[in-house]
Amino acid sequence: MPDEIAPAGTAARPDDVLGEILAGLGNRQKTLPAKLFYDEIGCELFNRITQLPEYYVTRAEVALLDLHADEIAARAPGANGAGGTALVEYGAADESKGVRLIDAASAPFRAYVPIDIAPSALDAIVRRMRTSHPDILLSPIAADFMQPLALPPGVATLPSMGFFPGSTIGNFRPQAVVGFLQLVRQTLSGGGEPCLVVGIDLRKDPSRLVPAYDDAAGVTAAFNRNILRHVNHLADGSFDPDSFVHRAIWNERDGRIEMHLQSPRSQTVRVGGRTIQFVAGETIHTEDSYKHTRDGFVALAATAGWRSDGFWTDPDGLFGMHLLRG
Ligand code: AVI
Repeated sequence: MPDEIAPAGTAARPDDVLGEILAGLGNRQKTLPAKLFYDEIGCELFNRITQLPEYYVTRAEVALLDLHADEIAARAPGANGAGGTALVEYGAADESKGVRLIDAASAPFRAYVPIDIAPSALDAIVRRMRTSHPDILLSPIAADFMQPLALPPGVATLPSMGFFPGSTIGNFRPQAVVGFLQLVRQTLSGGGEPCLVVGIDLRKDPSRLVPAYDDAAGVTAAFNRNILRHVNHLADGSFDPDSFVHRAIWNERDGRIEMHLQSPRSQTVRVGGRTIQFVAGETIHTEDSYKHTRDGFVALAATAGWRSDGFWTDPDGLFGMHLLRG
């Protein structure tokens, strides 16, 4: 089914989102779901984050791919055969990283399967790639990849390489990492032994990590506060985003950067018809960004049935990419 967007899995219903918001704000440690960062303004702010001097993550991953894409692509299943391989990209907001593998020397890819929750992003990928890569079979899937999903018949039996760049996996709690990796194994098992390349931001000194999530220009602060505007829109809320302070905290025990929004004073907010009280200093925990060690991630992946078969970093050793087989 080339070029048609296959709706696999389910998008969240508005009622479910309202329930999630109210449940999170009803917890002792108030929380909001990090997926609510990404409305139109949030996507634009995230794009600006990736260009900040303090946010090394995107630059390091691109440097890694510049250096190692040929070697990584050559390790794809089917690389020595004539049949062709599918590149299945999870969370493919755009194709810029995927094409670095597709265009790599002796890359075996015949099909590209971008998976994203946003059909508009997939439409744009298909439009661009029809021109830039006319020989690649495009098989986009609009889905929440945290739910079980099946590849379309035309690509399900091809050997495939899964690709999950961006260190988005760092935004999952360890249990969710294991659940996700199990789902990927099932999805990719139709064409032989599953293979997955996954990008992780590596553990490093907090003096490097904290500024990456609390930049001098205040873009990450605006990104964090924007979640409150989005909640106002979705749940008829009365948050004043400017009355919350952005906090980025390194949690050494759990190996993660936490983002919070702190209320410096006591205040009351209405959300979805409920009254939410804040005492002075109280926070809403909005995001975790786990920083894995090389071995720690291998151990986590092993609990989901994967073994490590390759690891690369950028020249400064900031960002890592694991090749897993299962
Ligand atoms: C999308 N994700 C990998 C980003 C990260 O680094 O955890 C989200 C982000 N949050 C604040 N800055 C960037």
